[in-house]
Amino acid sequence: MALYVQLTRLRGFQDHIGIDARVQAAVEECARSIAERHNVAEIRIPVMERLDLYQRSSGETSDVVEKQMYAFADHDDAHTMLALRPEGTPGVVRAYIEAGLDRSDPEQRLYYCGAMFRRERPQKGRYRQFNQFGVEIFGRADAACDAELIVMVDEMRRELGLELNFEINSLGCIECRPRFRNALLEWGRAHLADLCQDCHLRLERNPLRLLDCKIDVKLTESAPRSLDYLCGDCQTHFGIVNDLLEDAAVPHSVNSRLVRGLDYYTRTTFEAVSTGVGAQSAVAAGGRYDGLVEALGGASVPGSGFAIGVDRIALALEAERFRLRPDAALIALGEPAARRAMHLASQMRAAKLTVEVLTPGRGLKALLRRADKIGARHAIIMGDQELARGVVVLRDLRASTQQELAERDLIAALAAGASR
Ligand code: HAM
Repeated sequence: MALYVQLTRLRGFQDHIGIDARVQAAVEECARSIAERHNVAEIRIPVMERLDLYQRSSGETSDVVEKQMYAFADHDDAHTMLALRPEGTPGVVRAYIEAGLDRSDPEQRLYYCGAMFRRERPQKGRYRQFNQFGVEIFGRADAACDAELIVMVDEMRRELGLELNFEINSLGCIECRPRFRNALLEWGRAHLADLCQDCHLRLERNPLRLLDCKIDVKLTESAPRSLDYLCGDCQTHFGIVNDLLEDAAVPHSVNSRLVRGLDYYTRTTFEAVSTGVGAQSAVAAGGRYDGLVEALGGASVPGSGFAIGVDRIALALEAERFRLRPDAALIALGEPAARRAMHLASQMRAAKLTVEVLTPGRGLKALLRRADKIGARHAIIMGDQELARGVVVLRDLRASTQQELAERDLIAALAAGASR
């Protein structure tokens, strides 16, 4: 008996068809164009790397590495452990070092876009494969760089008409962060009896994670705040970031609990929070990671960046706005007209008009219904008689009016209609 395998997609993996794919593409296109206006260049990196890369950057105690990796042994002699990328930052840093840029030309501004993989519990806005668009800036330690990154995301908010607030925090530097960590450790030990099971583990392995707890929210309100432990330089840095965001009219507030789920952050961290996408409201996040290049074997070069969740931004947008609307549906009645239609359509496309030639062989009424269904602005109708006279019938499907037009005037008439 043949084994019946259900060929459905995997849990947490998505298909994006038609308009859904188009919204995602529009988000990516908007991000790409903003990044390029900031003189950020593209980098394309593999979707798979050695598992160690993520363990040494995202952090062994981070949820991403500890619980969510798609990791497996390769078939090579060493059984090298490989992993699908859960985020872009480690791969970009690895590529930057591998190309020798950390020493030869450290100041780099790079963007990337593509699929990331995390074995999370799926829900609306949280998937096992999702798309990120990220920017990483190397060789800049100044606060203006952090502010510029946040401003880039804010430009997306404006262009796409999103409702976002930016939450920002500072985790301090190698000098002052250990003091904050110790204070959290002491606080955690003093409240041990009240902490949840997970927090007991967090306390020993990475006390900053205590502030991530979704169970002990009330309790952790009394926990130490990183901002109270910042050294003078970190305070100044954070102050400048705030002032620059103020000047740029970026809607923001300080969230002293924002420790982020990845281990490499120093100083500025931020999240862009949307009101329109349900529980998974962080649509973009990032921050500074001054020690990461060095930790991965490169020179001591500062870095800062962000990634937006393309799927989550797409959820916050009204999809209809992005529907592809052809300028015209070409309706050819009869074989000779159908041949002419193919030719006319090519000319129209060369003039940057969007055209679908409808399947011939059906009645005019059915074809007009189809033109309407695909959202075409106009129907162009040509039969034997029109063909013989070198004319077409141009029907405005919104206004329900029509006119006869010389074929040679068609493109100009459509272009005028498209710009109206
Ligand atoms: P992250 O906060 O882990 O940071 O992810 C950034 C964004 O990716 C999130 O705000 C969210 O919008 C989206 N995202 C994350 N996980 C999922 C998921 N399972 N499903 C859908 N969307 C998701 C990073 O990845 C850092 N690499 C950001 C960064 C770049 N920091 C510095 N440079």
